[in-house]
Amino acid sequence: MTVRQVITWGDPRLKNKNVDVGDWTPDLDKLVADMFETTIAQEGAGLAAPQVGLNINLAVVDVNTGEKIVLINPEILREEGEQIGNEGCLSIPGVQEPLKRPMKVWVKNRKPNGAWEEVEGEGLFARALCHEIDHLKGRLFVEYFGPVKRSVIQRKYQKQRRD
Ligand code: NI
Repeated sequence: MTVRQVITWGDPRLKNKNVDVGDWTPDLDKLVADMFETTIAQEGAGLAAPQVGLNINLAVVDVNTGEKIVLINPEILREEGEQIGNEGCLSIPGVQEPLKRPMKVWVKNRKPNGAWEEVEGEGLFARALCHEIDHLKGRLFVEYFGPVKRSVIQRKYQKQRRD
């Protein structure tokens, strides 16, 4: 397993369209293992393929409440309730901001063997599912904020990157 380099805010690959994963291959097994390894090494809660420069609909989630999953061509079916909590992103290191997310989500997900499953997530797991599925749509969590707040975050982020 290899810790992969995570690309950061401003890299166009984070905004590219991601294509669906086709037939499962041993290369994808290797990629998933590397993505879990990278998530742990960076103390994250998950990682999406575009963050390692690959524009495919694949992500991993591994939260400290024990839930761990490989997301393949996932789609949110339903959301319920809301929660406000701190969110961060391995592509925007050093930034954590409170963000409202659904308390529960139901996700349609493909398994490596091609079968479909429905995954239910609550709390931190729901937050991580939403965050990673957003990445697959080219959306970063800071884009939920208005232009003023976003530019404040961006300045803070760039200053800290320089220091
Ligand atoms: Ni992220």
